[in-house]
Amino acid sequence: MAILVTGGAGYIGSHTVIELQNAGYEVVVVDNLVNSSKKSLQRVEQITGKPVPFYQVDILDADALNAIFEKEEIDSCIHFAGLKAVGESVQKPWEYYYNNISGTLVLLDVMRKHHVKNIIFSSSATVYGSPAFVPITEECPKGEITNPYGQTKGMLEQMLIDIQKADPEWNVILLRYFNPIGAHKSGMIGENPNGTPNNLMPYITQVAVGKLKQLGIFGNDYDTHDGTGVRDYIHVVDLAVGHVKALKKIKEKAGLCLYNLGTGQGYSVLDIVKNFEEASGVSIPYEMKPRRAGDIATCYADPSKAFKELGWKAERGIREMCEDSWRWQSKNPNGYEE
Ligand code: NAD
Ligand code: WQD
Repeated sequence: MAILVTGGAGYIGSHTVIELQNAGYEVVVVDNLVNSSKKSLQRVEQITGKPVPFYQVDILDADALNAIFEKEEIDSCIHFAGLKAVGESVQKPWEYYYNNISGTLVLLDVMRKHHVKNIIFSSSATVYGSPAFVPITEECPKGEITNPYGQTKGMLEQMLIDIQKADPEWNVILLRYFNPIGAHKSGMIGENPNGTPNNLMPYITQVAVGKLKQLGIFGNDYDTHDGTGVRDYIHVVDLAVGHVKALKKIKEKAGLCLYNLGTGQGYSVLDIVKNFEEASGVSIPYEMKPRRAGDIATCYADPSKAFKELGWKAERGIREMCEDSWRWQSKNPNGYEE
């Protein structure tokens, strides 16, 4: 039996395929490559020494998905496929709702027609909005979400909850990721954003490699230890391992489960810059800029539920995250492009 990994050519998906193959799972990847490259999967094959069956298919294409379910023996799905750029989602809300919501509805319909009712879904700490308290436990109420991307995550969580409630044969695990950074130790795969990065770490690594002139720090007047925003950065390999643990749980008939995947530790933008400089030996010029719309001061997880119920906790610290991000970017200044 195989695990269907939608969006498996992307940043988190490609790292998860490695951990799944290392744990002995068969995988099948579906990705339309709208935000990724086939090369990531070729590199995964080099790393694990195992083939990665891959279908270049859009999850909105029900016929193509059906054909995959008929051909492959799939028993569970890890669903990463989706558009994820917060700013772009404000400009193109229709595209985000259509791709993320309709795509998932098509996937769920094909799954149930084939009696495959195990799904692990990539959600986000963004659903907490400006969190009611920190560290954020899963009890923290969902907050006001300020952008269409985040709305799709909140809505898809609710849809999955309702579907599982109506049909308890479904096993649904919602994973709320905090801020994934870092890369596989080999430096062969990593985050490869299109155009100018929106997220902090890829912006820093592109400054370090000389592609961007300097970092703009969005606000130094927050109520945090140094005035810059505090986040829970988590190594992408730790996140990937979290999916392997969740898969074990889902196979024990999980019902509905929800977990935060974070480290429990918050770092400011300036902490990240300092750690990155120490890890890489490259200095990062920066200037202070006004706050970015929609940003919050502080966001970090209480990850203890995932430890209690999945036996998972993040193992890799901030220094290692910076070293691994840098290894990937310095070995691949243009990402997967030659
Ligand atoms: P990514 O863009 O690297 O990966 C997503 C993959 O989905 C891409 O390879 C893309 O080509 C594919 N895809 C998009 N729409 C598709 C469609 N209609 N059909 C088939 N494939 C499609 O992003 P990522 O950082 O690896 O994120 C993976 C998932 O985790 C996403 O759902 C994202 O929203 C969620 N998430 C990411 C973060 C983060 O900071 N990276 C945080 C929280 C949640
Ligand atoms: C981190 C910190 C910025 C860039 C986003 C999404 C969230 C999730 C993860 C998907 C903040 C500051 C950033 C820059 C800066 N993704 N920053 N200069 O905003 O916490 O979360 O990615 O689900 O939904 O909203 O991450 O990396 O953009 O920002 O000063 O050039 O770095 O203000 O304090 P964020 P980020």
